[in-house]
Amino acid sequence: MNEITGKNVMVTGGAGFIGSHLVDRLIQEHPNKIVVIDNLFLGKLQNLEHSKANFDNLVFYIRDASVFPVLEEIMIGEEIETVFDLATIPLPTSYLQPRWTYENNIRLALNFCELLRQGKCGFYVHCSSSEAYGTAQFVPMTEDHPLNPTTTYGASKASQDILIQAFDRMYDLNFFIFRPFNNFGERQNDQAYAGVIPMTIKRILKGEKPVQHGDGRQTRDFIYVKDTVDAVVRLSRNPQSRKQIINVCRGREIEIGKLVRIICDGMGYNGEIEVIPNPRPKDVKRHFASNERLKSIIDFNPTDLETAIGTVIDWYRGKTS
Ligand SMILES: NC(=O)c1ccc[n+]([C@@H]2O[C@H](COP(=O)([O-])OP(=O)(O)OC[C@H]3O[C@@H](n4cnc5c(N)ncnc54)[C@H](O)[C@@H]3O)[C@@H](O)[C@H]2O)c1
Repeated sequence: MNEITGKNVMVTGGAGFIGSHLVDRLIQEHPNKIVVIDNLFLGKLQNLEHSKANFDNLVFYIRDASVFPVLEEIMIGEEIETVFDLATIPLPTSYLQPRWTYENNIRLALNFCELLRQGKCGFYVHCSSSEAYGTAQFVPMTEDHPLNPTTTYGASKASQDILIQAFDRMYDLNFFIFRPFNNFGERQNDQAYAGVIPMTIKRILKGEKPVQHGDGRQTRDFIYVKDTVDAVVRLSRNPQSRKQIINVCRGREIEIGKLVRIICDGMGYNGEIEVIPNPRPKDVKRHFASNERLKSIIDFNPTDLETAIGTVIDWYRGKTS
C-alpha cells in the first residue's frame, strides 16, 4: 500500500517546523507532486529552501487551510490524493487567544473530514499532540490514556481526534492519526515561548545565562524531529496504521532541569542557570509515553537524546557563525 510514491501529496503547515521536515522526508519517497499550504502564521518560506532545491514539483500556497472553499479549490485543482495535516495554531498562542486557537484548529480537521466524506481526499494523515492527554495520570501513557487537556490548544487537538473518529464511524474514512510528543530539531520555532532546547542553545550562544522555568522537575518525552517524520512516512506505507491513533515518542521521560544541564554540558557551559517562575502555570507536569503500538507496526529505533541534541547544537552553531 503506497499512498505517497507517484501521488499528489499535500502537507498543511509544511512551512513550519515538523511540516518542513516531513516535506524533506516525503521527497525521498518520490511523490509526483508535493503541495504545501501554509498561511505563514509561524511558518517560514526559508524552511522549504532545502526541499525546493531537491525537488522540482513542490508547489506552495500561502493560504488559510481553515477556510473550506480555499482548501477545496486547491485540493481539487491540484488533484490531491494524500494529505498530511500538520497545520496548527500552537499552544503558546492559546494563552493569548484561546477561542481563536480552538476555532482555527477544529476547522482544519473539520474541513478534511468533509472532503474525505465527499470523496475529495483519498487518504488523510492527521497530526494530533500529546497535549490532548494533559498531564500523565499513569505512565507510560498509552493511546488509551484519558484525554484531559489543560489548555484550549490541547482541547483543540483532542477535539480534532474525536471529530475524525466520529466522521469515520459515520462514513468509513481512510485515515490514521499520529500523536507526537515533544519534538526538537533544526528549524524549531525560536521566538518567545520557544521550546526549551532551542531557547537554551540560543541563550548560551549569545552569552546569556540559560533559563529553567519552575523547579525543573516537570518531565517530557522528547523525540528528534527526523525520527518523527520518518516514522510517519513508514506508518503511511503500512496498512496496520489505518484508523488508529498512534503515539510517536521515544518512550523515555526526562526532567526539564536535567535536559537544560545536558545542553549546557554539550556546549561546554559551566556557568549559572537562571531559575524563573513558569510563565505557563497550566503546562502539563509529566509526559512519559508508550510507543508499544508504534513498534507493533514499524521498526522504531529513535536517535539517542544526547546524540540528537549534539546535532542540533552544531546546526545552531553553523547558523550563527
Ligand atoms: N512541536 C512539537 O513538539 C509538537 C508536539 C506534538 C504535536 N505537534 C503537532 O505537530 C504539528 C506541527 O507542529 P509544529 O511544531 O511544526 O508547529 P509550527 O507552528 O512550526 O507549524 C505549524 C504550521 O501551521 C501553519 N498554520 C497554522 N494555521 C494554519 C492555517 N489555518 N492554514 C495554513 N497553515 C496554517 C503555521 O504557519 C505553521 O507553519 C501540529 O499539528 C502540532 O499540533 C507538535
